[in-house]
Amino acid sequence: MRLVGLDVGTSSTKGLVIDETGAVLAEAERAYPLASPRPGWAEQDPEDWWRAAEAILAELRAHEADGIGLTGQMHGLVVLGADDRPLRPAILWNDGRSQPQCDAIEARLGVERLVALSGNRALAGFTAPKLLWLAEHEPDTYNKIRHVLLPKDYVRFRLCGERATDVADASGTLLLDVGARAWSTPLLEAFGVDPAWLPRLHESVEVSGTTRDGVPIAAGAGDQAAGALGMGVVDAAGPASIVLGTSGVVFAARDGYAPDPQGRLHAFCHAVPDAWHVMGVELSAAGALRWLRDATSGPDGVSYDALTTAAARWAPGVEGLRFAPYLTGERTPHADADVRAAFVGLGLRHDRGALVRAVLEGVAHGLADGWDLIDPKPALGRLSGGGARSELWTAIVAATLDVPLERTASNAGAAFGAALLGGVAGGTFADVRAAVAACVAPTARVDPDPELVAAYAAQRAGFAALYPLLRELPGG
Ligand code: XUL
Repeated sequence: MRLVGLDVGTSSTKGLVIDETGAVLAEAERAYPLASPRPGWAEQDPEDWWRAAEAILAELRAHEADGIGLTGQMHGLVVLGADDRPLRPAILWNDGRSQPQCDAIEARLGVERLVALSGNRALAGFTAPKLLWLAEHEPDTYNKIRHVLLPKDYVRFRLCGERATDVADASGTLLLDVGARAWSTPLLEAFGVDPAWLPRLHESVEVSGTTRDGVPIAAGAGDQAAGALGMGVVDAAGPASIVLGTSGVVFAARDGYAPDPQGRLHAFCHAVPDAWHVMGVELSAAGALRWLRDATSGPDGVSYDALTTAAARWAPGVEGLRFAPYLTGERTPHADADVRAAFVGLGLRHDRGALVRAVLEGVAHGLADGWDLIDPKPALGRLSGGGARSELWTAIVAATLDVPLERTASNAGAAFGAALLGGVAGGTFADVRAAVAACVAPTARVDPDPELVAAYAAQRAGFAALYPLLRELPGG
């Protein structure tokens, strides 16, 4: 069997082929640029995604596959006109321009009613507030809108001509009744969205279309739900998914729809039919370490290994140096696109290793802010993302969250979960649980070190004090 997963990511599209045991047979990747025409903005050309996907599918010989699954960056707004072409660059998940529209819609509907309707608060990254921004700032474009798609669904449209999405990715639009797994008429009305603009909704495992060569294409899922599935995170009784990628995520599966009444955690449909999940998102996690590396290294660069080795020479707490990881604002728990990051407590003794350790610890505390809200909590986490390659960071996160962490054999990310969905849609697996049982194997386990647990618990109050100070800083 050959199952293809395609992940339309923010820095690149990644594809892989697995067999029915989860062994990775081939991988391919194509990168593309991200434009930031103004501070806090993030845009991409949807055609860049399609060119990347087309090249990857050819390289992976997807025409011979038994099923394809799609995943990708969530929340991005793609608007098509009457000729089915993008009307402007896509506005991405990490674009903060629509904070005023979020504030306005929350004032108009009330947070309580918005959470009751959608399971979530209005966050600047989400799709619907971007439509309000377009209506205000680019009315000519807005008036030409005929279709609205999410990033991976634009690739699907180019691949098979279907305008379709899945309930997991659609959960991040703020237009879905997440409990009912259906578009929400009251939300469409509140955001002024014509129902004819929206794609057809599927469960993630359903066939959404077929390629020219007759290969079934699963509806797929947003990258967090697909990634969690690929880590074996499917049931409330099982492990949580914890991600140290560009963004940081704590994610727990739920057997029923259980939104946080204040909407501090995201409450989304899972890629598993009849399952939901709650999620806390930290906008800059491994992205903060990448930023520090790029900002401090000379033209020859420096490896992440060298950075974390230097960080390991410092004791927990870094002699009072603290890092607030809000480089691009924050979602959980602050819902604030405008706050910015800071180092606090710098002294003459602090070197680059100290800065790195403060970043690793600050990101872990930020993740813990989301983890603390998850109730009940899974007894185990499965860690993935680039940051999971660091033993030091894994140990810091295990101790700060006070939970044992496992890694899995593949660490292949969301594309792996998408390939599993392709396998269910194509009939290789009876359902997602069978796919996980056949393909996902945990490897190393890291237990929290009691001394580190105590050290980081003692520092939480110091970390928590940073956000209120940063929010109140004048200027900027
Ligand atoms: C999830 C989220 C990110 C993006 C990045 O809510 O915003 O995971 O999907 O890829």
